[in-house]
Order: sequence, then structure tokens, then C-alpha cells
Amino acid sequence: MQVIFIGPPGSGKGTQAKRLASTLGIPHISTGDILREAVADRTELGRKAAPIMKEGKLVPDDLMVGIIRDRLAKADARKGFILDGFPRTLVQAEKLDNLVGGGNGSRNLRVLQLLVPDDVIVKRIALRRSCPECGAIYHLETAPPANDLVCDRCGAEVVARPDDTEQAVRKRLESFHRQTLPVATFYKTKSILREVDGVGPVDEVFERIERSLQ
Ligand code: AP5
Repeated sequence: MQVIFIGPPGSGKGTQAKRLASTLGIPHISTGDILREAVADRTELGRKAAPIMKEGKLVPDDLMVGIIRDRLAKADARKGFILDGFPRTLVQAEKLDNLVGGGNGSRNLRVLQLLVPDDVIVKRIALRRSCPECGAIYHLETAPPANDLVCDRCGAEVVARPDDTEQAVRKRLESFHRQTLPVATFYKTKSILREVDGVGPVDEVFERIERSLQ
């Protein structure tokens, strides 16, 4: 199965995509995580992406398409994958179509759009903490680490993301509405888009996701 998660910042793409990937036994490919790793490792990609991400803007399409082309060529992606954060523009969606099997897209492809209103998003992001080492996602109110600010999985200190400032979140929401919503329409016209209510406890949202994939 090939699954794409589309949704505004803070809608729960990462939380749900990780869980679905582990249930289905296929890789979770998050372009945000790949970029954050490149920034932490100070690679050339990371140096280019860091200031763009900090401002809440999108990294150029050619860089992102190259990253996804290389990642999907790896052996573990042959049996399926979950894409989280890609495609985010129409150019990226069209390039992905070419990569996964022709102009009509792959028959195994499902696109899930998480619907979450902006006011809920702002509350979620304000209290989000993530692990810079293993990428685990927490929320100080609804899903805190068991032990203060220490990651349950790897023991690193969990932190707020540098692009979770009020100004960057506003910019990311604007990019989502202007550049990514047309991607949802692109998949709607192919009849492979499923809209999922992303509000409610994480377990309930996950059940909705599983039902929408049946
Ligand atoms: P990316 O990392 O993809 O960020 P995003 O799309 O803004 O999404 P987030 O990671 O902020 O949120 P999420 O939907 O994963 O929510 P989460 O599960 O964490 O991209 C970052 C940047 O990289 C971009 O701005 C851009 O610069 C660049 N980039 C990446 N891909 C790109 C591309 N293809 N093209 C160009 N540039 C690209 O949940 C949020 C919080 O809510 C957490 O605290 C969580 O615990 C909590 N939560 C989750 N679900 C629930 C629930 N049901 N109830 C209560 N709390 C919940």
C-alpha cells in the first residue's frame, strides 16, 4: 500500500503516519524529518533548508523531488510507503505521479487529508515537543513524555521545534492553504482522496484512518 498524508501543520500527520507505518510494516517517509536530520548534520542540503524552514516557507521543489526520488528507490519502499509532508505543491504531485507509476498514479495509492481547524492547530503546536534524536512527537498536555522532558524512546531531551514560532506557523498555514490544498484537489479528481476528521483523541483519529483505507 502507498499512502500520502496531507494536512496543515500540526494536524497530526507525523503522529498518525508513524503509527500507520508500524501497523502496516512499511516505511514512514517524512520530508520534514529528512530535512531536520540534514540540518542537524550540517549537510549542504541542511544548510540550504535551515533558513527556509525557520521562516515557515517551502524548500524548492527540485530539491524535494530529488530527495523523494532517492528515498523511494531504496529496497524497503518497494513493498509500500507512507509519505508525510510530500507532495506539498502541484509540481511535486505531478513528479510523484511519474515516480509511482504513470500519469494516472498508482492503483495502490491512497491519499488521506486530515481536517483540523486552525484554532485547534495553534493549540497543538504551542505545546508540541519533539525529540531531536529519534523524532518522537509529544504534546505537553495530551501526550507528555513519562519522565519530565526526557524522550521515552531514546532518553534525549525533548524540545520545541525552531519553526514552531507564531510567525512561522502563520506562514506555514498560509503555504498550506495556497500551495498544498490544490494538491488535495488534484487527488480528488483522481478519486483517491479520503477526507478524515483529525479532531479528537489520537486513537479515535487512527481508527477513522484505518476505516478510510478499507
Ligand atoms: P513538516 O515537518 O512536514 O511540518 P508540517 O507539515 O508543518 O507539519 P508538522 O510536523 O508541524 O505537524 P504534523 O501534522 O506532523 O503534526 P504532529 O503529528 O507533529 O515540514 C517542516 C518544514 O519542512 C516545512 O515548513 C518546509 O519548510 C519543509 N518541508 C517539508 N516537506 C516539504 C516539501 N515537500 N516541500 C517543501 N518544503 C518542505 O502533531 C502536532 C502536535 O499535536 C503534537 O504535539 C502531537 O502530539 C499533537 N497531536 C497530534 N494528534 C493529536 C490529536 N488527535 N489530539 C491532540 N493532540 C494531537
